Amino acid sequence: MPAAGKLITLEGLDGSGKTTLAAGLLTVFPALTLLREPGGVGLAERVRALVTDPALDVDPRAEALLYAAARAQLVAERVRPLLAGGHDVLLDRFADSSLAYQGAGRGLGVEAIRAINAFATGGLVPDKTLLLRVDPVTGRSRQSARGAPDRLEREGDAFFASVGAAYDALAAAEPGRFVVLDAAADPEAVLAEASEAVAASLAP
Ligand SMILES: Nc1ncnc2c1ncn2[C@@H]1O[C@H](COP(=O)(O)OP(=O)(O)OP(=O)(O)O)[C@@H](O)[C@H]1O
Ligand SMILES: [Mg+2]
Repeated sequence: MPAAGKLITLEGLDGSGKTTLAAGLLTVFPALTLLREPGGVGLAERVRALVTDPALDVDPRAEALLYAAARAQLVAERVRPLLAGGHDVLLDRFADSSLAYQGAGRGLGVEAIRAINAFATGGLVPDKTLLLRVDPVTGRSRQSARGAPDRLEREGDAFFASVGAAYDALAAAEPGRFVVLDAAADPEAVLAEASEAVAASLAP
């Protein structure tokens, strides 16, 4: 039986550069399987369409459970089988996004969201989490350059400040799992720093 693969996650505010970094990391580590959240499998992509639709009124608790449901399906259908087969997986967002956005941003409480996500994922915890740290204003300006905002992207400054502070607290609480990267640096510098962290965590 092959050794279990490693799970690496990318976290950070909207516009912090997660998707850009994921593409860069795939060029450096082509054996990684990249999946995005919410999404990655049929059911979860449909849930993504619901939670990002600006036309829908979504209660915060419903929102938290929809994200957790999408995550449960992705973990069961793709992530666990890949890891069990010895494949390393790179996830563009994972449970820490819910702790920060729904737990802190929506004010549902980080511990409550931690509990539903532990249920959803069967307790799966990433081997390494790269936090792209950027101030919300920079994140916003990058994101608005990209087109019409989705439902969550329409939130105000206080929401994103609270999400950013929650990410910082999560990283401080688990310094062994989190690597904090300065996402204000240019993309090449972010990729170089991130590649070092990924290489170290993939090493046997
Ligand atoms: N280090 C960087 N410096 C300057 N611009 C960047 C950097 N990284 C990404 N960008 C640009 O910022 C925008 C947002 O980047 P990206 O889509 O990767 O962010 P994201 O974290 O995936 O956002 P979201 O959470 O909304 O998916 C893009 O236009 C991208 O080209
Ligand atoms: Mg992205």
